[in-house]
Amino acid sequence: MGLVNMTAMLQAARKGGYAVGAFNIVDYNSTRAAVRAAEDLKAPIIVQVSVKTVQFWGADALAGWIRQVAGPSPVPVAYHLDHCRDVDVVRQCIDAGWTSVMIDASHLPYEENLALTRQVCAMAAEAGVSVEAEMGAIVGVEDDIFVSQRDAHLADIDQAEAFCREVDLAVFAPAIGTAHGIYKGTPEIAYDRLDAIARRTGLPIALHGGTGLDDATFKRCIELGCAKINISTALKYAFIDGFVDYHLARKKYEPLKPLQAQYEAVYALVAGNIRLFGSAGKA
Ligand code: 13P
Repeated sequence: MGLVNMTAMLQAARKGGYAVGAFNIVDYNSTRAAVRAAEDLKAPIIVQVSVKTVQFWGADALAGWIRQVAGPSPVPVAYHLDHCRDVDVVRQCIDAGWTSVMIDASHLPYEENLALTRQVCAMAAEAGVSVEAEMGAIVGVEDDIFVSQRDAHLADIDQAEAFCREVDLAVFAPAIGTAHGIYKGTPEIAYDRLDAIARRTGLPIALHGGTGLDDATFKRCIELGCAKINISTALKYAFIDGFVDYHLARKKYEPLKPLQAQYEAVYALVAGNIRLFGSAGKA
């Protein structure tokens, strides 16, 4: 199967009542761990990259790693650009080999969000790349995008329906009350709104802010139409703690050993989420 866009895998997920995990990798080790976990569980997977990570490593290095790790993979792997506001970065990633992109123009007024999303959809369609777009404002920090509690607002149902009719999206990300980062209290998810948006758009829905949600919340969101679940913060914790804990317990300066511990921590995190989201065995 190898590298594919998100369209078919998310339609199958929505229809089949499960979700595909979308994990924000940070380097080669985390890419390898995520893809191997999906392969071992025979699951489709979305490996996604934040703009900051693209800037840190460069698009060509990242694209080389995913081609090497996922090119010969027996499971479908989508390589996705997460929350991007900059069309030039979208272009750069499409040219480098990404199979999927998110244009996040949700901070702009409706018409401008639509215009930018339309521009990205046209660019992506030519390359066979799938597109995710966002509406409303998801609270918290993702990459360098910070949305305060005061500025957060949920997606409007009528606008969401109209928006999705105008552009060809693989998945739609409406703000429904989840947050990026660590939850400070119990999240209040607008299930009715999620239900209405999923029904009226007919699209697979992306659930942002996956870290810290409990099993029952995931289950209900998946039942209501969430087919892509984003996990970033939990992966950052596994990535750093996996390495640091191993090192602090031994204090031996053999880098490959803590790197192996880091690999195993990320692998376990990804595998656990794949099982939880019901995508094991669906590749
Ligand atoms: P978390 O950092 O809460 O896992 O959210 C991830 C996300 O939604 C990335 O876009």
